[in-house]
Amino acid sequence: MSTSRPPHSNLPKFLRNDEVTQECQALLSTLPKEKTRLMTLYKYQGFWYNALWLEGVLECQPHFQAQDTDILLATTPKSGTTWLKALMFTLVNRKDCPIITEDHPLVTTNPQDLVPNLEFDLYANNQVPDLASFASPRLFSTHLPFTSLPKSVHESACKLVYLCRDPKDVFVSLWHFSNKLRPQNLDIIAFEETFHKYCKGVSFYGPFWDHILGYWNESLRNPEKMLFLKYEDMKEQPRLHLRRLAQFMHCPFSAKEETEGVVDEILRLCSFGNLRNLEVNKDGKLSSGFENSAFFRRGEVGDWKNYLTAEMGDQLDEIIEEKKKRHGVGQREPALMPVEPDPNHRPNQKLIQKMKMK
Ligand code: A3P
Repeated sequence: MSTSRPPHSNLPKFLRNDEVTQECQALLSTLPKEKTRLMTLYKYQGFWYNALWLEGVLECQPHFQAQDTDILLATTPKSGTTWLKALMFTLVNRKDCPIITEDHPLVTTNPQDLVPNLEFDLYANNQVPDLASFASPRLFSTHLPFTSLPKSVHESACKLVYLCRDPKDVFVSLWHFSNKLRPQNLDIIAFEETFHKYCKGVSFYGPFWDHILGYWNESLRNPEKMLFLKYEDMKEQPRLHLRRLAQFMHCPFSAKEETEGVVDEILRLCSFGNLRNLEVNKDGKLSSGFENSAFFRRGEVGDWKNYLTAEMGDQLDEIIEEKKKRHGVGQREPALMPVEPDPNHRPNQKLIQKMKMK
């Protein structure tokens, strides 16, 4: 049920909090909140959401019934979700949708729409999704933190894939994305202010460290159920990690597929360069209204160096190190974040200036 008219009716729906259910409105009024330039965030179960997404969280937590064969991709926004959606969709559907064809679903549909987000695409807007038509294994994505996943996800034998990305690159990507989404009449979103909030954990689905560490710890506890992937590793050794992913999803490559080069074909189809240049991703829109092109920017590792000072980078690294200790992540565990000391690091002032003037 909707409530009164919005004070900012020019804002896109996903940024407004006036059209959520009364139940959600009532909850919002009791939650800690923080205003960012783009949206008001509310802290629920330890994480920050905007109103519409929170409405979906409240709906999907009790109502989503996971099946043992489901596979869920979990990420924080801007960690490479689009890429993993493309890879996972192509992997499980490769028998029905041959990769080298003009009519592969990825040619006409953005990966975000092929693998719907649980709390937003399926349950926000007071929807009751019809999941019966989904082919098995059903693929879903979520930005929910591990501790807030629907109970049925924990209780079923469904699988979880988590994609983690260096928070420095995530921050820069998020900042660009937020600026793309902002209404025309809103000033560019302040970089430093947003950075300070991010470091305090105040960002969409933040704190980033609790998000990452929640899944990281679970992957160590329960490797049968959870696969923890890193964007940087996927970039460095894509074949290795695609094979791991296929194995984990119960659709390993056969010897014949290996000989025929299917691994490389999938990587090519889902590559940043290929997806970004498809017509659908240049001009199309998602069913939720986002422009497809907003999900393809640079797709590189280490772009943060063009925007953050070395001190800012260190600050984010130190936060993760500090939180790892608190979460009891041992030194013997494989490195969670890429370690890449760079004495010649210089943010690209021209680029930053250009963005600020946009
Ligand atoms: P950048 O902004 O650093 O370029 P998400 O899909 O979670 O919203 O993440 C978006 C980020 O993933 C963006 O990062 C985007 O460019 C990058 N990305 C999108 N498709 C990709 C692909 N096929 N391969 C690698 N990175 C990709």
